[in-house]
Amino acid sequence: MRLVLLSVLCHYGAVVFSQSSVVNFYVATESPIAKAGLLANIGPSGSKSSGAKAGLVIASPSTTNPDYLFTWTRDSALVFKTIIDQFTGGQDTTLRPLIDLYVTAQAALQQVSNPSGTVLTGGLAEPKFNIDGTAFTGPWGRPQRDGPALRATAFITYANWLVANTNETFVTTTLWPIIKLDLDYVMNLWNQTTQVFLISTSALLTGVYDRFDLWEEVDSSSFFTTAAQHRALRQGSALATSIGQTSVVAGYNTQAGNILCFLQSYWNPSGGFITANTGGGRSGIDANTALASIHTFDPTAGCDATTFQPCSDKALSNLKVYVDSFRSIYGINSGISANAAVATGRYPEDVYFNGNPWYLTTAAVAEQLYDSLIVWKQQGSLTITTTSLAFFKQFMPSATTGTFASSTSAFTTLTSSVQTFADDFLSIVSKYTPSNGGFSEQFDKNAGTPLSAADLTWSYASALTVFSARQGFSSAVWGAKGLTVPSGACQSFVGPTVQVTFNVVATTQFGENIFLTGSLDALQNWSPTSAIPLNANNYPTWSVVVTLPANTDFQYKYIRVFNSVVTWESDPNNEQTTPASGSFVIDDTWR
Ligand code: NOJ
Ligand code: NOJ
Repeated sequence: MRLVLLSVLCHYGAVVFSQSSVVNFYVATESPIAKAGLLANIGPSGSKSSGAKAGLVIASPSTTNPDYLFTWTRDSALVFKTIIDQFTGGQDTTLRPLIDLYVTAQAALQQVSNPSGTVLTGGLAEPKFNIDGTAFTGPWGRPQRDGPALRATAFITYANWLVANTNETFVTTTLWPIIKLDLDYVMNLWNQTTQVFLISTSALLTGVYDRFDLWEEVDSSSFFTTAAQHRALRQGSALATSIGQTSVVAGYNTQAGNILCFLQSYWNPSGGFITANTGGGRSGIDANTALASIHTFDPTAGCDATTFQPCSDKALSNLKVYVDSFRSIYGINSGISANAAVATGRYPEDVYFNGNPWYLTTAAVAEQLYDSLIVWKQQGSLTITTTSLAFFKQFMPSATTGTFASSTSAFTTLTSSVQTFADDFLSIVSKYTPSNGGFSEQFDKNAGTPLSAADLTWSYASALTVFSARQGFSSAVWGAKGLTVPSGACQSFVGPTVQVTFNVVATTQFGENIFLTGSLDALQNWSPTSAIPLNANNYPTWSVVVTLPANTDFQYKYIRVFNSVVTWESDPNNEQTTPASGSFVIDDTWR
């Protein structure tokens, strides 16, 4: 599209157009096309989604090679997060009825039994459904545990706006029950692989152990999923507090701490990148990480590396490693200098359609850079650490570590270079956008021509979010500011450990929950407020699996929490010793 524009301009005279004005033109022309492309893929009245139930988003109208005429929970949540941000940010006030259709559609979808389970046994993480809202029962990489978290984040963004705009009743009666189902799923099952969470029906045994990544291929922990889960629980706990649903707060906060702790383990210090997947036998270099960084951007969190904010030293170092991994493997990138923008894909080892660049991943690089610029300008300085030095040296070989105020030439040089770098990624997206402005999923690594699913809804959403970021719109604050990793939870990952399953038979009333606390860091040192929540998947047996140090004596008790009132088990304390290795099951009855 950019080439077309340039040739048109050449006919009209010898005006020299700066690269940024070319990108300005692209953003202006592509924005309405992307918005229309996105809306065309939402039922019931989207022009390319006939047959889709009201409020359901089709991934793409493509029915063969690949067949994407399904609704994915992830794609839908990211698409509606974009719509909800536009609505709550005041950019488009007409979108509310559509958002309400999404609410109704997802509430129904949550209740559909599917190969991942029922609403209470894992079915919330089923990755995709038929477009009439029925279960897809064919083989698939399931479950995918980012779905419930992303959906909760979309709804919480809407809920926060409603609370601020005098419609708390709708939040409490309609949205909160939907959000709570997803968040309880995240709290209980965010990364579990152990049998204790299975229900007894053998048909469900196959999927529930698994946790597939966003690319639906790798069955292991995944950075994007973990980061999305962490964000959802933090926001959920804040929303719960604001609407008086306080019984969930302790449980969400405890698991958010554990997840934040686990999030740190993806960082690869020697490689200077985030290992996106812990399985799969790949390098781990993956767009998963840039997508996570833009999805969890919180403009008030500065360049904090704890949550891998877009401008954090770790996220910038990671971005360079990620981008560089595509320089030599795509024909269309050859001849581009080593510090200039290139087309990027999902991960360098990708073989899907022979492995090509994707529009939404190339756009994500630009978006992470625009998000960074928002923060540097807002805080009036930029910091270079040994971790981010290689990233900055791309633009200024003489760069050194330190903090550079906005009055310094280093700040000016680096921010304008990053702006140009970001615009160059958008120019690449523009260059390979066909003249009608439509976005497929991929573009050919050698020919540059559109490839795979046409009119991919997520591609359109990615264009809208990167354009907003370029204009300086930052997405909603979600509570990333000042977060620290809880030391107790982290200690449970050090040294020889065993997996201990706690089962306790306890009859409870509706709204009452069972927690565990005891004499070890990993048992939260007898704290009732940060005690570990148990799940009731096999009610009246409440269960949780905790990683404890091996060969260790410990004492513990279960507590009941109802309306924030804590009731301890009667004395004496329970006592156990963990074995040297392996796993260990404790069966108790509430006293
Ligand atoms: C379809 C998935 O959606 C895609 O991500 C994956 O690469 C291919 N199947 C091949 O496994
Ligand atoms: C394949 C992608 O890998 C996956 O992330 C996406 O959800 C589906 N296609 C549908 O767009």
